[in-house]
Amino acid sequence: MSEILTSTLDGVTTITFNRPDKKNALTLAMYDAIVDALNAAAADPAVRVVVLTGAGDAFTSGNDLIDFMRNPPDIAGESPVSRFLAAISSFPKILVAAVNGLGVGVGMTMLLHCDLVYAADTARLSMPFTQLGLVPEAASSLLVPAMIGHRKAAELFLFGDTVDAARAAQLGFVNEVVPAAALADHVAAKARRLAAAAPTALRLTKQLMKPAIADIAQRMKDEGALFGEQLRGPEFAEAVAAFFAKRKPDFQQFAA
Ligand code: COA
Repeated sequence: MSEILTSTLDGVTTITFNRPDKKNALTLAMYDAIVDALNAAAADPAVRVVVLTGAGDAFTSGNDLIDFMRNPPDIAGESPVSRFLAAISSFPKILVAAVNGLGVGVGMTMLLHCDLVYAADTARLSMPFTQLGLVPEAASSLLVPAMIGHRKAAELFLFGDTVDAARAAQLGFVNEVVPAAALADHVAAKARRLAAAAPTALRLTKQLMKPAIADIAQRMKDEGALFGEQLRGPEFAEAVAAFFAKRKPDFQQFAA
C-alpha cells in the first residue's frame, strides 16, 4: 500500500499521509509523492480543492527522524523537503487541512500554508524543533510571530510544548474543532461548498490574502541553511539518539 494516497471526487482531491504505524512520519520519498500529487492537482482543471489528512490516529509526526539522520536533505537548496515547502506555500488552489490527530513539526507548520484548517478534538500540535536541536522551518519563524506575536511564538518555539486543539484554535492555527468522528464529513461538506464556488474568484482571493510569497521563500531559504547545519550537528544527533533510546537528551554537554 502506498504511503501517500490520493483520491479525487467531485472536484476535491484528498491527499492522505498513510504510514499509521509510524504516526505518518514523512520520509523523503513521501515528500516527493506529495509534491507530485499537489502538482497534478494544480494542473488538473477539474480539481478545485485539495484536502490534506492522515490515516489512523495521527495527522503526521513530522519528518522521519531516521531518514533525516541518514539522508539529511538540503532544505535551503533542492531537496524533497524544499520542493514540498515551495509547493504548499505557493499552491494556487484552495488547500484545506483535516487534522485528525497528532501534528508534530512540519505537521504543525504546514498548517500555516493551508487556507482552512479543521481539527479533531483529539488533535495535538507541537513544533519541538529546539528540543531536537533544530530550528523552525516552513517560514514558521516568520509566520507564527506575525500571527500571534513574538511572546506567544517564543513560548511555542522555545519550549516546543504540545497544544491541544482548543488552544490551537484560540491561537489561530485552526478554524474549527469538531468531534473526531465527525471530522471527515465536516471537511467533506466544506470542500464540496468550495468546489461549487467560482474557481477564479477563489484563486484570486487567496492570492490577494497571501503575504508576499518572495518573503516566505526567502525565509524558507534562511531557515533551511540553519536547519541544515543543525541537522548535521551534534545537538540533533544527541536528540535522535535519545528519542530512539527512549531517554531524555543531554544538552548539558554542549557549550552555550
Ligand atoms: N520519525 C521516525 N519514526 C517515528 C516518528 C518520526 N518523526 N514519529 C514516530 N515514529 C515511530 C516511533 O519510533 C514508533 O516506532 P516503533 O513502533 O518502531 O517503535 C512509532 O512511530 C510509533 O510512535 P510512538 O512514539 O510509539 O507513539 P506515541 O503515541 O507514544 O508518540 C509521538 C507519538 C509522535 C509523540 C512520538 O512518536 C514523537 O515524539 N515522535 C517524534 C516526533 C518528532 O520529533 N518529529 C520531527 C519533528 S522535526
